Amino acid sequence: MTNIKAVIPAAGLGTRFLPATKAMPKEMLPVVDKPAIQYVVEEAVGAGIHDILVIIGRNKNAISDHFDSVPELEVKLQQKGDHGRLERVMKSSDLADIHFVRQGEPKGLGHAVLRARTHVGDGSFAVLLGDDLIDESESLLAEMIAAHERTGAAVIALMEVDPEQIHLYGAAAIESTDDDGVVTVTGLVEKPAAADAPSNLAVIGRYVLPPSIFEVLERTEPGKGGEIQLTDALQELAADADGPGVVGVIFRGRRYDTGDRVDYIKAIVQLAVERDDLGAELRPWLKEFAARL
Ligand code: G1P
Repeated sequence: MTNIKAVIPAAGLGTRFLPATKAMPKEMLPVVDKPAIQYVVEEAVGAGIHDILVIIGRNKNAISDHFDSVPELEVKLQQKGDHGRLERVMKSSDLADIHFVRQGEPKGLGHAVLRARTHVGDGSFAVLLGDDLIDESESLLAEMIAAHERTGAAVIALMEVDPEQIHLYGAAAIESTDDDGVVTVTGLVEKPAAADAPSNLAVIGRYVLPPSIFEVLERTEPGKGGEIQLTDALQELAADADGPGVVGVIFRGRRYDTGDRVDYIKAIVQLAVERDDLGAELRPWLKEFAARL
């Protein structure tokens, strides 16, 4: 177990999934039969984190309700003898110590992270973005926490993407280190045009940050899209030779992007096909369906 707390920003408007997200937060969209945010909470718990702060916005009560217990539902399932479902329902309320804070106005990811300052205090913390799901077989977050403990630096996760996709991400300039899979980040740009990108290494939604990031965020001016960008605050840390610096852990594993509709559908299909309870029925149908396309 680690003393590191996790922060999950979940205050976005979810416009790409309208009208589904008109009254429901996008973090509650099911990926097979679990809301996306539960995968992220389970990932944090899997890395030894037990204190989780979710930054919520308007219309987000469904998220806090999801992590609450529902005694009447539990009694019903108990009476029916449906122990499998009972266990799954209870799991979401027993996972971790989950706290909530409101963002108020949605002024960007950097602003959302700043809302965690009081709860986090003066310890290091992890940030997990709900649009990126990391396969449960991966140990990315644990590796990032270990890299932070070794170096004291802010740690970001980097993944190679097609150069034409880099405008969707923060992009990093890097130098290699003696530490396998860990690089020094010398610069960061939020969502650059392909021609201006320092590399095709994209920042994916996992961060392990020192508390000094809060002071930087406090003075970070709105950047790309008029929003306060976490990438801009990290760029300041990367450029400051006297500060903790920024390192990147290169991730080559399985990640699902649930923020994009096509990738969201792919994630559901992939995860369902691998499930013991669903895969056997789904695989032959999927083959037949694909042959008809
Ligand atoms: C955010 C960050 C971006 C990062 C991305 C990863 O962007 O600002 O640097 O690459 O998450 O998913 P968003 O996708 O929230 O617009």
